[in-house]
Amino acid sequence: MSTSAFVPKVCLIGGGMIAHDQILPSLYQLQRLKAIGEIWVCSQHGKTTRALAEAEPIRRAFPGFSFVRYPKDDSGPYPLLYRDVIAALPPRQIVVVAVPDPLHFDVVMTALRCDQHVMCVKPLVLKVEHAEQIEREARARGLVVGVEYHKRFDDRSLMARRRYREGLFGEFKLGCARLMEKWYYRHSNFQNWCTVENSDAFTYIGCHYVDLVHFITGLLPHSVSVYGIQDKYPNGNMGFLWTDARIIWQNGACLNVQNSLSFPDAAPGTNTQGMSLYFGAREVGGWLEHSDQYRGLRYSYVRKPEGAGATQFAEPSPDYFTYVDLGGPGLTPVGYGYRSIEYIIRQCIRVETEASTLEGRQKLLKEIDEQGIMATPANSRYNELVTEAGRLSILNGGKEVVIEYGDSPHVRFRD
Ligand SMILES: NC(=O)c1ccc[n+]([C@@H]2O[C@H](COP(=O)([O-])OP(=O)(O)OC[C@H]3O[C@@H](n4cnc5c(N)ncnc54)[C@H](O)[C@@H]3O)[C@@H](O)[C@H]2O)c1
Repeated sequence: MSTSAFVPKVCLIGGGMIAHDQILPSLYQLQRLKAIGEIWVCSQHGKTTRALAEAEPIRRAFPGFSFVRYPKDDSGPYPLLYRDVIAALPPRQIVVVAVPDPLHFDVVMTALRCDQHVMCVKPLVLKVEHAEQIEREARARGLVVGVEYHKRFDDRSLMARRRYREGLFGEFKLGCARLMEKWYYRHSNFQNWCTVENSDAFTYIGCHYVDLVHFITGLLPHSVSVYGIQDKYPNGNMGFLWTDARIIWQNGACLNVQNSLSFPDAAPGTNTQGMSLYFGAREVGGWLEHSDQYRGLRYSYVRKPEGAGATQFAEPSPDYFTYVDLGGPGLTPVGYGYRSIEYIIRQCIRVETEASTLEGRQKLLKEIDEQGIMATPANSRYNELVTEAGRLSILNGGKEVVIEYGDSPHVRFRD
């Protein structure tokens, strides 16, 4: 066992919305706590990392903090620069992947082959065989791959999980979940990648609720059908911007998940989301209702605040990610968005410091897989299966696609 403090460098690939809203400030906070060292950020355009470096909310929270930019100036695009940047990192540090969904596989594999631990935003990858390759590569090298499903770290999810497993709800039978992002998302970089051939509203955001139902109940999804409605982005690209998914679980339970980029910009809250689950026991029904965007706060400001999607009448969430003033300097990020990132980064540090041999690290990785708190390629394969099945279904008019588990998990149309 190593006794010296291990303070890894962290290299963030991608500098878009999620990097700005959650990842970079969480990494800065971990740097403030001296848990991590230097931060590098690589994006394909230098202007993206400049905008991130100059973002006012982050500068206000972290005065004097900075990261190393790649590319060094405002030039670009350099679509493969991340390969050189990751290769330049000393081995066994941490790479955080926050690029569009279709690029996750190459960035994650590049990082693993350079002996780096990985935190990847959801969905890990779009095909189950890619998840299998990632799992094999990570295990062989004794490296962590944590998939950032932050809703797992919302205390309400952890409460529901415990109570379900104590038998307080009975057995999951029916559920509906929704997550509608605001209309203005259509004007963002999404229009360049969240297009019909690459992704859809369910793949992008519905996966959170599929993951959550497994996280709470332990059940596995067994078939998927996704009906999508195409709509035109402002740049003319087409996307499945409205989706309705039906997931049938191993016990026959059914979850309906609706997703879109449609919630009115004028409506309060940054989106609308939540789920209702219905359960059965021998003589009585169980019920769980989570409003995941209205957290009980209603503010009516005297003017409209700055920022995309801000409204004068607001229902802010104190639970996902916000900055609070704990006396400074700067502000402190709090919420499950921060806790999720802290948890994954600390698992990487743990594996690097608590074991000094490959066998020791593999044993720890197995423990992490089995605990099932952090999503890993080994313990959340169902997510890639649902994603792959969902894509097949949506591109075929909502046809039902069955998930086959076993030695070589795969998806196929129902006969
Ligand atoms: N709730 C969530 O968990 C959540 C929320 C938002 C986004 N995400 C995920 O995060 C990822 C990024 O989403 P986003 O909202 O930040 O998107 P975005 O379009 O705002 O940002 C993507 C970033 O990736 C960069 N990029 C694109 N190609 C690149 C390349 N070849 N090399 C380096 N950088 C490249 C872009 O320059 C941009 O900075 C997606 O996989 C998305 O599904 C998760």
